[in-house]
Amino acid sequence: MVARGRQRVCGCLFVAVTVSMAGYNQPGGKRQKVREVRPGDNVDYFQGIDKIEYNNMSSPSDVSSYRFYNSTERVHSRAMEDWLKFSVSLTEFRNNGSDNHRPPHTHPWNDGSKTLENYKRCIRALFEFCQKLGVKYWTALDSDLLHCEWWDDPKQWDDIVEYVQELSQRYHVKLLWLAPDLHSHARYAYGAFTSNEAFTFAQAAAQIKKCLEISQRLNAECFLLWPCREGYDNTFQTDVSREIKLFAKLLKLTAEYKDRLNYRCQLLIMPYYNCQLKKYAHNFGWQPHGWREGEVLNRYMWDVTSCLYLLKNFNLDRYYKVCSPPGHHMCMAMVYNMLGGVRLSNAIDHYDSKSFTLMMKGIIDQGTAPPSGICLNLRGRRSGDARDLLTLHVKYIDAAAKGLRFAASIIAEQTFSKHLQQRYITYHSGFGSRLVSSDVTMEECEDFCKKTQNQTSEPSRSEHMDLFFQRYLDTSDRI
Ligand SMILES: *[C@@H]1O[C@H](CO)[C@@H](O)[C@H](O)[C@H]1NC(C)=O
Ligand SMILES: *[C@@H]1O[C@H](CO)[C@@H](O)[C@H](O)[C@H]1NC(C)=O
Ligand SMILES: *[C@@H]1O[C@H](CO)[C@@H](O)[C@H](O)[C@H]1NC(C)=O
Ligand SMILES: *[C@@H]1O[C@H](CO)[C@@H](O)[C@H](O)[C@H]1NC(C)=O
Repeated sequence: MVARGRQRVCGCLFVAVTVSMAGYNQPGGKRQKVREVRPGDNVDYFQGIDKIEYNNMSSPSDVSSYRFYNSTERVHSRAMEDWLKFSVSLTEFRNNGSDNHRPPHTHPWNDGSKTLENYKRCIRALFEFCQKLGVKYWTALDSDLLHCEWWDDPKQWDDIVEYVQELSQRYHVKLLWLAPDLHSHARYAYGAFTSNEAFTFAQAAAQIKKCLEISQRLNAECFLLWPCREGYDNTFQTDVSREIKLFAKLLKLTAEYKDRLNYRCQLLIMPYYNCQLKKYAHNFGWQPHGWREGEVLNRYMWDVTSCLYLLKNFNLDRYYKVCSPPGHHMCMAMVYNMLGGVRLSNAIDHYDSKSFTLMMKGIIDQGTAPPSGICLNLRGRRSGDARDLLTLHVKYIDAAAKGLRFAASIIAEQTFSKHLQQRYITYHSGFGSRLVSSDVTMEECEDFCKKTQNQTSEPSRSEHMDLFFQRYLDTSDRI
């Protein structure tokens, strides 16, 4: 029988001290099994960095405070932190920037080893990071918590789960969602949900099952699936119809198992969307030329609407909600009342006032923040250090907070709502309003058309409105 001890060293918590129960209970009993404190266990990775506080009067050179984010301040009758509900990604936090072309860099909390110690170090550093930022949530893949070699070892999982639970209590930082990593292992090269091999499908299912159980133990509010390997290269070697059905099957199994666990959490699905898509969309008009080698050519869920269609078609839309980047995809998710959360990635989303204001206006219009809030998937520069990574987060958090303040003032001042109403004025009375509220026949449309054939459309005044919007944002003394 082992017990878990806890000790404070230099004001820092270190856990997983394994001592025998007997040894612990005997007065003066030897504690020779106490693990030696390794470098990193009590290291302050953010030495000399204060907690980021709100200071709306700070000078432009002071980047170590928030100018716009005052977490408890009420904006549009809710605390800012409720509207914004930020989370930090452990995946990005652990990321060492390694790829085929560039050497990896190391963060002081990640020595690149696959040891349990190293996994724990990263997690503890993340909690400290969240505390510095004043962010209350984090997100992770299962593969960020434990090396896959230990996957089937319940002891290792217990160890990690207990470690995370202790840290959560100490730092008051909660797990927002856990997601099974169904893409980085070689076995998933041809898909997980949609593999051509039954045993790979079963492996994916078993991984999701375990991950749901861990997620429940960690009390995560949501559970995310990120089907990023699901797709096909060509139709002459792929039974697309079968694969789509398998896809839906595993989504259903997941939802049913969650219910059987009696685990109350929001299931989320995040369509595959990355900067490559955006880049190629821009360069080639959505043609997948020059797709990165090794990537799936045609994804089953490459945007929110394709995801929604699959969910709807298989009657899964009642179980899942969709995570989306800001902009058009988010707008479509909201239209169908399916927004599960917003994902901000610095590789894709520029932190500009306009898009963040529209993002926050969308959220306010929904009446409440989506279940998984705003996930900050921010990858530090390879030349940057811990402070730089913190500043990157400050940059995005503050930009979103600024967006929230603008959005609230736009709504309160009805700045654009009058214009919006005016644009649809023809639907407010007569034939237009009947069109909306009751059945109208083709013949009636024809009659109305004859009566109004000489009527000309109002010019859109798009440029006018665009500049108006920009100027509104430029006069930041409003917020
Ligand atoms: C800073 O906030 C205070 C109180 O919230 C407010 O009175 C003041 O006008 C703000 N200053 C600036 C520069 O926004
Ligand atoms: C932040 O908001 C809280 C709650 O509304 C308020 O009491 C506090 O004064 C604000 N902080 C600053 C620096 O304005
Ligand atoms: C960097 O990260 C990759 C992917 O997690 C890993 O395979 C590699 O060992 C890491 N390298 C170092 C030096 O940390
Ligand atoms: C539309 O304009 C044409 C030519 O100016 C005119 O002959 C016609 O009567 C007008 N129709 C209606 C419905 O006002």
